[in-house]
Amino acid sequence: MKKEKLPKLGLLYMDYVLRFFDKSNFKGWPDKIEIVTYHWKNDKDRFIKEVKRKKIDVLIGNVPATAYETFREIANALPNVQFIPSLDTQFSNKSKENVTRFAWKYDIPIPKTYIHYDADKADRFIEDTEYPKIIKKSYGPSNYGGYFVHKVDSKQEARNLLAQKKYHPAYFQDFVPMEADVRVMLIGHKPVCAFWRRAPEGEWLTNTSQGGSMDYMDVPKELLDLAVQVSKDANAEYWACDVAVGVDGEYRILECATAFAAFPYIRDWIGQYIMYKFSNGRFNKPNAPLYNWEELGKMDASVLRTLRYITFGKYTPSYDGAYFLDKKVRETEDGDMYLHEMDSLYPMLLTDDRTEEEWASDKWNYQDNYGKSVRKVHAKSNPKDIKPKKKEFEKKEIEIAQKDEIIEEEKSIIITKKSIKKILTSVDGIGKKKSNKILKKFSHEEIITHLEESPETIEKKFPWFKGNMLDELKSAWNNFKNRL
Ligand SMILES: Nc1ncnc2c1ncn2[C@@H]1O[C@H](COP(=O)(O)OP(=O)(O)O)[C@@H](O)[C@H]1O
Ligand SMILES: [Mg+2]
Repeated sequence: MKKEKLPKLGLLYMDYVLRFFDKSNFKGWPDKIEIVTYHWKNDKDRFIKEVKRKKIDVLIGNVPATAYETFREIANALPNVQFIPSLDTQFSNKSKENVTRFAWKYDIPIPKTYIHYDADKADRFIEDTEYPKIIKKSYGPSNYGGYFVHKVDSKQEARNLLAQKKYHPAYFQDFVPMEADVRVMLIGHKPVCAFWRRAPEGEWLTNTSQGGSMDYMDVPKELLDLAVQVSKDANAEYWACDVAVGVDGEYRILECATAFAAFPYIRDWIGQYIMYKFSNGRFNKPNAPLYNWEELGKMDASVLRTLRYITFGKYTPSYDGAYFLDKKVRETEDGDMYLHEMDSLYPMLLTDDRTEEEWASDKWNYQDNYGKSVRKVHAKSNPKDIKPKKKEFEKKEIEIAQKDEIIEEEKSIIITKKSIKKILTSVDGIGKKKSNKILKKFSHEEIITHLEESPETIEKKFPWFKGNMLDELKSAWNNFKNRL
């Protein structure tokens, strides 16, 4: 019998960027695995040609934030190449703003977040908000571990910080006092590794790069459940989430991405998972039982860095008790559970193969969009002999782009809290009290996003939100927009 033909795999490499995968992570793949390297500057067309020439069907690898928009273009120019993870899945890799927009869309709990592109609006926010607040750089080198994350205790501090750092957009979060955070790594939506990170005494940064501590024990099931949900929302083949455990006991997502530091044996599992996905049953899923990390984590990190191709035996009922021997039972909110029972609640699942773009750049690339739209208009009136004045011309362009941004923002300034309240209370059954409840639960900007993208989220959050309320709210919102 002739074996089914396998798709051609390619690994995506970038000059100057550490490689997440190499061929050894795909041990046993019978065909040649191609490699394509992106050389940055003006390399787009050549890169596309090379992928075509090598007849790659599946291109595997992470795209760093600064190449993200170019790679959306590259992916669009290669409709027959499947990117793993897809550019949609990698949306959160680009910036903290993107993580936030992803979380808003899927109603994922995060610290309350406020994003301002317009300086005046940011100023007004600083004036009116409560402190302490966290200010972060949204886009740029992020693996500095908290280097671009600041706590400000007053409007003066906030103003000074932004004046000095010039972060654009201005990205604020409510300060959430936290016990610790947990990094969870998932493959096919199954947690395969998790560990606690705790801040040093008296500090608030839980990043271990700042001298905190870490351990692998007793990560709560409910926290893993949140990470699984987020991985599913991202449709991620592999994924890492940082989940903050608040002093209030709540779980909130701090970061999530496909780009993260992982031991080689975890990258082997990812490779095996990808081979499983694309081999139509010829390769098995990796077997990484839940809480395997508690056992592996007993080993020194220097050992974990050298271990490769780890496999575990499967649980068999006739051999009960052999599952991690002494650690059979786990406490959960739903009572005690055997580890093997729990493991079956976390199957490693196939991701969906999607063709529709979810996070198309013309809509979601907030960072560049304002400038772009202006540039086009402006280019029409370009005099033929602008070359000597190019510098000045560019300066002008930026000024105009900034003005345009203010105009863009002006539109949302019109949508005041007052008008949102008016929209809410225009719905039968929503009075002053209920509208206040909604405005307490969601920030102004969150409500607008939900009204635009996923009004069901508002319905889901309140038991009294029933019947025709959602339809009424949608039409009230549309009427309001039409009047703008
Ligand atoms: N809203 C917040 N409230 C309190 N602490 C926070 C908040 N956001 C981040 N932190 C702390 O700062 C650390 C770094 O923030 P994070 O968003 O993960 O940025 P980075 O890219 O620097 O890792 C987190 O691990 C956490 O300890
Ligand atoms: Mg972090």
